[in-house]
Amino acid sequence: MVHSVQGVIARSAGAPVELATVIVPNPGPGEAVVRIQACGVCHTDLHYREGGISQDFPFLLGHEAAGIVEEIGAGVTDIQPGDYVVLNWRAVCGQCRACLRGRPHLCFATHNAAQKMHLEDGTPLSPALGIGAFVEKTLVHAGQCTKVSPLATPAVAGLLGCGVMAGLGAAINTGSVTRGDSVAVIGCGGVGAAAIAGSSLAGATRIVAVDIDDRKLHIAREFGATHTVNAKECDVVESIREMTNGFGADVVIDAVGTPQTWTQAFYARDLAGTVVLVGVPMPDQRIDLPLLDVFGRGGSLKSSWYGDCLPSRDFPMLIDLYLQGRLPLDRFVTEEIALDSIEDAFSKMHAGDVLRSVVLLP
Ligand SMILES: NC(=O)c1ccc[n+]([C@@H]2O[C@H](COP(=O)([O-])OP(=O)(O)OC[C@H]3O[C@@H](n4cnc5c(N)ncnc54)[C@H](O)[C@@H]3O)[C@@H](O)[C@H]2O)c1
Ligand SMILES: [Zn+2]
Ligand SMILES: [Zn+2]
Repeated sequence: MVHSVQGVIARSAGAPVELATVIVPNPGPGEAVVRIQACGVCHTDLHYREGGISQDFPFLLGHEAAGIVEEIGAGVTDIQPGDYVVLNWRAVCGQCRACLRGRPHLCFATHNAAQKMHLEDGTPLSPALGIGAFVEKTLVHAGQCTKVSPLATPAVAGLLGCGVMAGLGAAINTGSVTRGDSVAVIGCGGVGAAAIAGSSLAGATRIVAVDIDDRKLHIAREFGATHTVNAKECDVVESIREMTNGFGADVVIDAVGTPQTWTQAFYARDLAGTVVLVGVPMPDQRIDLPLLDVFGRGGSLKSSWYGDCLPSRDFPMLIDLYLQGRLPLDRFVTEEIALDSIEDAFSKMHAGDVLRSVVLLP
């Protein structure tokens, strides 16, 4: 059945988002229609609205979601109607050069739905990160649906669909944080706080949280930060060094993604340490560094796409850890809001008032 549902779209760069009727086609081969129950508001949605990611307006925003599979297309065997799933933007292909070498978390040819959702006048929509989930029902590739335990509520489970997974994975997967490590995390929004939670889970013994907002630093402590630095009041590099016996942290995670924060990360790590860039820079940003410092400090400079996660491996495992009380996923949810409050949620995100606003759908 073709569905006509309400969704939140961004029509042009910088314009406020608006509610619109979205036409969701029948699932074709390999596709599924999912009834969305909850979808978090991620900074990347705001990047889309500002035209910072691509110019393919109009966008159907939202990509951090959980829901129930409603219909499946021909050839879909891994999921069936009624399954409780978290949507992912890494439906691995199994055939690209990364997958064939046993690195599916790097898949370079991930699947999305082949068909487009569209507006009533036929205008095709570009779904954010190939998902588009600020909508009652969405069309995705079946591989984008990862089954998890229904004991976790949709508001909590959906978080793993993007920002929280990106942060947890930046620490655990990309940064390979391990027992006894010192870690510094610059930027303690949803992504950075998750990087702190991931570092704590992995056994880091010193975790320095850096932000420009004391409220975020307070929350960071709840997720496991042992030290905090207000970047407006202190020299970030000096402070991190002081808090790590004068040497710098083993792993520094930049969850802001600007030349300034990345350069701080670069100099705030110990010799042979690791920098992980998980914040997404804007297209015009540049860095200028002495190449000798890059060589002389050794170590590795990494980027973390989606926390280098493999959804089929990581989502059910992290939900299990949450259900066992070992990962406080529920603490990321600052507020639950309705579909028509996303502009407000962007303002609150901008003002630093929230870790995650999560849209609940009836
Ligand atoms: N790599 C990925 O796969 C991936 C996935 C999701 C989100 N992201 C990106 O991660 C970034 C963070 O997302 P979020 O949802 O946590 O955003 P957010 O707005 O909730 O958090 C950003 C935090 O950084 C702080 N901050 C800003 N400037 C700072 C500075 N100079 N020094 C220290 N702290 C500073 C803010 O106070 C805020 O607490 C965004 O760029 C987002 O697009 C990346
Ligand atoms: Zn692949
Ligand atoms: Zn996101």
